[in-house]
Amino acid sequence: MTLNKKRNNSKLVYLDNAASTPIHKEVVDEMLPFIHDDYGNPSSLHKLGRKSRQGILNSRFRIAKSIKANINEIYFTSGGTESNNLALVGSAKLINKINPSCNQIIVSEIEHDSVLETVKSIEKEMKFKVDLSPVNSDGIINEEKFNELVSPQTAIISIMLVNNEIGTIQPIKKLVELAKNKNKNIVFHTDAIQAIGKISVNVKDLDIDLLSISSHKINGPKGAGALYIKQGINLEPVLFGGGQERKLRSGTENVHSIVGFGKACDLLNEKLDGNQSKIKEIQSYTINKIIKEIPFCKLNGSKNERIPNNINISFLGVNGEDLLIKLDENEIASSTGSACSSNKKQKASHVLKALGLSSAEITGSIRFSMGYQNTKEEMKTTVLKLKEIITELRKIGEFDPNIKKK
Ligand SMILES: Cc1ncc(COP(=O)(O)O)c(C=O)c1O
Repeated sequence: MTLNKKRNNSKLVYLDNAASTPIHKEVVDEMLPFIHDDYGNPSSLHKLGRKSRQGILNSRFRIAKSIKANINEIYFTSGGTESNNLALVGSAKLINKINPSCNQIIVSEIEHDSVLETVKSIEKEMKFKVDLSPVNSDGIINEEKFNELVSPQTAIISIMLVNNEIGTIQPIKKLVELAKNKNKNIVFHTDAIQAIGKISVNVKDLDIDLLSISSHKINGPKGAGALYIKQGINLEPVLFGGGQERKLRSGTENVHSIVGFGKACDLLNEKLDGNQSKIKEIQSYTINKIIKEIPFCKLNGSKNERIPNNINISFLGVNGEDLLIKLDENEIASSTGSACSSNKKQKASHVLKALGLSSAEITGSIRFSMGYQNTKEEMKTTVLKLKEIITELRKIGEFDPNIKKK
């Protein structure tokens, strides 16, 4: 896989791949004909329309293959946020109509805002009751408490496969089994947006009903995502109009982005294992080097149940945002909290709070998220700069490790 050679930020060490990723050159190459020449509306009956339709069909096939789904179980959306909204609102609307006594929704307390805000709105507008399933200090769902929450009234469960801030992997297969053993009618959704391309995702093995994915997290273009809907699971539409995507998601399809998304999935199918073992190596190298060279730091989230691409670490006596700005001045792109939530001033991370971190640990946290393009040399530079900046910031803030900040 090659990056687009024209990039003018070649000096940049990009460690914010959980927020968005560089597009593969091969992906751009496949998209271009659908921008320049094959611009027909996929609903049109003429030749150009048929070409666009074929592009979407190929992409549906590639995406289905990458998560071991059937081709007719993939529904295109504009991205991860829309997939999560469609999964949750679409299920809630239908359940409200056919079985209103089932009115409980369970989500983990560390979900992305596109799940948390959606269920809040469902609770308000459709009289559902939302329960938060807690995680342990490693960021993994507490199975006992989860099991206690599941009841005959449970309508929908949504637990993410991989967390965007700390990279922890949830035991979704086990949770589906626990929930369905208690109540087989539950609709179980998982946000797999940070999982695809990082671990192998097999919808049949997980036995999941609904699963969200997004293109721009896997070196594809922005503006495309998909919702896997298991055969036999029904949803109400959220968007109305021309009845595209088998009447579930009206609106002219974003053909070139969908085509790019399909190509990005295809490349993943080929390269997942090789890429991930390389990233795992640089993850271990970086974590060990940081812990060895920079005192008063702590890795956040499980050490083992974690994707290779994520390092979330707290440095006492510094402010993560100051650290991010200084790193940025040194051509290193990182993130604090959930970078893709908005560009407003960041609120304290609900994920790190759920892990029980102190406010000093939350304030001093930073996330490095690696992609296939990162090298050990880049990580070496990053740790070197990190050490310099932290020493400087601690000096300015008169950090005294003997005074435990609350
Ligand atoms: C776990 C998770 N869910 C949902 C989203 C939203 O996806 P999108 O940016 O495609 O709307 C993100 C984005 O970072 C995410 O990390």
